[in-house]
Amino acid sequence: MDSEPTRPAAPGPDGHIPGGVRLQKVLASAGVGSRRRSEQLIGEGRVTVDGRTAELGTRVDPLSSVVHVDGKRINLRADLVYLAMNKPRGVVTAMTDPQGRPCVGDFVSDRPERLFHVGRLDAETEGLLILTNDGDFAQRLAHPSHGVVKTYIAEVPGPIDPKVGRRLSDGIDLDDGPARVDGFRVIDSSGDRALVELSLHEGRKHIVRRMLDVVGHPVNRLVRVAVGPVRLGDQRPGTLRKLTGQELSELYREIGL
Ligand code: URA
Repeated sequence: MDSEPTRPAAPGPDGHIPGGVRLQKVLASAGVGSRRRSEQLIGEGRVTVDGRTAELGTRVDPLSSVVHVDGKRINLRADLVYLAMNKPRGVVTAMTDPQGRPCVGDFVSDRPERLFHVGRLDAETEGLLILTNDGDFAQRLAHPSHGVVKTYIAEVPGPIDPKVGRRLSDGIDLDDGPARVDGFRVIDSSGDRALVELSLHEGRKHIVRRMLDVVGHPVNRLVRVAVGPVRLGDQRPGTLRKLTGQELSELYREIGL
């Protein structure tokens, strides 16, 4: 059995951590594959630890080593959780609400971790909200400098003038400065109700509602359908799911972790 000291010694000159845990064991616990499969991946030179190609026998510190398989970062920390929630309309983005309104915290009250929501959705906005107990990850993901693109679908009064997309992409003057979308498309604009999709990488308060107001299409319903590589898909309102390893490694890359 591998011993798992809480504080392994510092890496030696070859990058190995003498008191650490065998890499194949850590990879298997992280869900990469069986120990045998993990050994194969190491043997094929597809695994790096802190930037160096790992070898069979490499030991790591699961709390601090940075491990990539095929260039994708693997989460080794079993204590860190990353969840996608479909926030229902009418739920406040807060872990507790002093005014007693339904809040995100109500949906995770049975979980042992201390979770944070990454960024905010308006109470009336539905859709994808990421929750985690990884503070560094949450801060980076919410920070505008990382520019993670969020995608929304809005139901607005139609029809949509073909010039609307150009105006939104060129930039709209808001009270707190200009804002522009990275992408815009009309999903349906057949009658007096239209559906549009917008993607943008900033997260100022009510940004989508304010931009659509300015172009004459006040929002009736707003759903966030994606945050970077994470998509809402057909996840039901009020439910949570774990992010997949693939989604997580893409997010790690986008926020420079
Ligand atoms: N933009 C908005 O207007 N509301 C949200 O909840 C998110 C983005």
